[in-house]
Amino acid sequence: MPKKIVVIPGDGIGKEITDGAVAVLQAVDKKYKLNLDYDYYDAGGTAYDKFGVPLPEDTLKAAQQADAVLFGAVGGDKWDNVAPDLRPEKAILGLRKGLGLYANLRPVKTMDALIEYSPLKPDIVRGTDVMIVRELIGGVYFGDKCEEEDYNGTKRAWDLENYSIPEVERIVNLAMQTAQGRKGKVTSVDKANVLATSRLWRRTAAQVAAKYPDVKMDNMYVDNCAMQLAINPTRFDVIVTGNLFGDILSDEAAVLGGSIGLMPSASIGEQTSLYEPIHGSAPDIAGKGIANPLGTILSAAMLLRYSLQADEAADAIEKAVKDVLSQGYRTADLYSEGFKKVNTEQMTQAVIANL
Ligand code: NAI
Ligand code: MG
Repeated sequence: MPKKIVVIPGDGIGKEITDGAVAVLQAVDKKYKLNLDYDYYDAGGTAYDKFGVPLPEDTLKAAQQADAVLFGAVGGDKWDNVAPDLRPEKAILGLRKGLGLYANLRPVKTMDALIEYSPLKPDIVRGTDVMIVRELIGGVYFGDKCEEEDYNGTKRAWDLENYSIPEVERIVNLAMQTAQGRKGKVTSVDKANVLATSRLWRRTAAQVAAKYPDVKMDNMYVDNCAMQLAINPTRFDVIVTGNLFGDILSDEAAVLGGSIGLMPSASIGEQTSLYEPIHGSAPDIAGKGIANPLGTILSAAMLLRYSLQADEAADAIEKAVKDVLSQGYRTADLYSEGFKKVNTEQMTQAVIANL
């Protein structure tokens, strides 16, 4: 039976970059006999223009039934005046919820060929290889919210941070299993000196960790973790944390890798998982054919690894990406004098040639 991949290009550069990733998948498919099959669906502003909603039923249903979803990006100035509930970005939130995508995995590797693009000193970032595992559908982003009417002339608001033991167990288990395939080290990040949710998180994490004697776990406060990422990023292997802390730390960590155009992510669900680059739809360069496709191509490699257990094919893609960068190929976002300037299509072909 063919493996069904639902491709959702979305808006802006979404089509250009998913075209690149699918071309690479087709090339590895030929070599490793993966038997992949693709179905294309709309989401975001593109879907709003066609159907009046950012996430059509058909798209969600197809995603739920797929073996994996490859997502480009959604959004753009064109839809700035659309009602809040119909904004393009609602598509990705709806997919996260509809697919139960409880974990977001963001690997950050500093490749030697790109070390000069990092804002930190080369000696600090060299060898960085961190996997951030962020809880994605709980915590303060999904807790009760209140925006009170004026109270003594001051408007008050609150957001409820709330985690249950099973929610923490699920994400920490995934972090432990992720570490087993890496250096066997998990840092659980919280703010247990102040927050009740963090104390529950820390206790639960310790109980889960006891089931994995081959993995070493330590705890770190989030403020310290933010600093350690900037001064000593190579001390980390896997970082596991809640939704809010993970959002902030993963953007901070992304800087260590060089360019936003390079960063992949996997959002893991109970059934279907979704893979997308971390950047948005880049309206400023959309339609020009110059977007960096590597973040999406590396997301496709994660798709092969996590959803299809095709590790060899995933390794081949990751190695090819490393090779094209060492060979000096650069899209505009990373270009400087002395390198080979390529567009999206040429970068894609360079990766394929290196497989
Ligand atoms: P963005 O990530 O789209 O762009 C930020 C900057 O990085 C821009 O200068 C852009 O040209 C550049 N850039 C991004 N990806 C690139 C690539 N592959 N190659 C070369 N350069 C690249 O973030 P921005 O501008 O804040 O948001 C644009 C739209 O995307 C908004 O509507 C936003 O809501 C949406 N967005 C969607 C996301 C998603 O679909 N998951 C995630 C983040 C933003
Ligand atoms: Mg973010």
